[in-house]
Amino acid sequence: MKYILITGGAGFIGSHLVRRWVNKYPQTTVVNLDKLTYAGNLENLREIEGKPNYIFEKGDITDAAFVNALFEKYHFDGVIHLAAESHVDRSITNPLEFIITNIVGTATLLNAARTSSISRFYHVSTDEVYGSLGDTGLFSETTPYDPRSPYSASKASSDHLVRAYHHTYGLPVVISNCSNNYGSYQFPEKLIPLTVNNIKLNKNLPIYGKGENVRDWLYVGDHVEAIDIIFHKGKDGETYNIGGNNERKNIDLVRLLCRISDRLLEREEGYAEKLITFVKDRAGHDLRYAIDSSKLQNELGWKPSVTLEQGMEITVKWYLENEEWLRNVTSGDYMKYYEYMYSQRQ
Ligand code: NAD
Ligand code: TYD
Repeated sequence: MKYILITGGAGFIGSHLVRRWVNKYPQTTVVNLDKLTYAGNLENLREIEGKPNYIFEKGDITDAAFVNALFEKYHFDGVIHLAAESHVDRSITNPLEFIITNIVGTATLLNAARTSSISRFYHVSTDEVYGSLGDTGLFSETTPYDPRSPYSASKASSDHLVRAYHHTYGLPVVISNCSNNYGSYQFPEKLIPLTVNNIKLNKNLPIYGKGENVRDWLYVGDHVEAIDIIFHKGKDGETYNIGGNNERKNIDLVRLLCRISDRLLEREEGYAEKLITFVKDRAGHDLRYAIDSSKLQNELGWKPSVTLEQGMEITVKWYLENEEWLRNVTSGDYMKYYEYMYSQRQ
């Protein structure tokens, strides 16, 4: 039996990845290390909870004694590192938390991995490390780093550390930098789940500034497929950009969500759009992100499986149908669920 460590597996992307790995690779045991911050939710993993090749370990990636002990206990074959503080707005109000988790946490894992016998350390990063684009151009793997928020600066620092451990100690690393993800189980502080939840509750839909900022959206299922391919076929020391080639201005994306929601909720056309409210812009708001993923497509054969319209339809439907999940994460009830689950495991 092989053991793979996935950090941040109770979060949005991590839970999709853990579910995929546990179901697809029964000969590998997935150890999910997660601190269960507000963004981590074990309910996301109910489907695989009892599987024999799944283990949950509650802990903090910045706790060196705990992380080292975990490496000794399982002798991991590989690591896929996703645990992070991930919301730009929170990084503006509380940058230190991001610096500690994203930089010190990554360094702590790298240090434990350095003296282990792992064959792959996969670091999951973001396109935001490249900074902000003007009206044209795409981020490629050779675009110079120019992070501009405490979140992106902390992710950029962690990327540098991962590369440094490769060059200095020969740690077999790969990094991917991905564009904005969307899909089920995303915490409703991010634009898409927040918008759908507010449409359903008849609440205002806050758009920062004029809604002219552009993001390149990728369906989370396509992201975890890319991670799987890069983990197995990527070259040591390499970086791969992952993007859906789906650029949209925020205002256009929110209007699309309004149209899909009105139809699915059988409301009159134009109902949800009336809820759009322009609010104060985010400080230092990056104008445009767009990814060139041709290296991943040409060298490793990955391509996105759904169009933005298809992916958004599935996603809006999921949030509308999973009212209880949304209610729990917005009310904090899921914290009680953890406490219960955790008390059963001690
Ligand atoms: P998320 O915020 O939904 O989940 C993060 C998870 O990490 C949570 O389960 C949380 O409990 C856990 N965590 C936080 N601090 C921890 C700590 N100190 N120790 C252990 N666990 C801790 O994040 P996400 O959106 O799923 O993103 C996952 C990764 O992918 C992050 O590294 C992020 O930078 C990267 N990424 C995200 C996107 C996106 O659009 N969401 C895009 C590109 C890259
Ligand atoms: P977000 O989902 O927070 O992701 P990121 O900041 O990592 O790109 O935001 C996506 C875009 O939507 C970003 O340009 C900020 C904007 N936005 C709003 O206009 N209103 C909102 O309420 C939120 C949360 C984001």
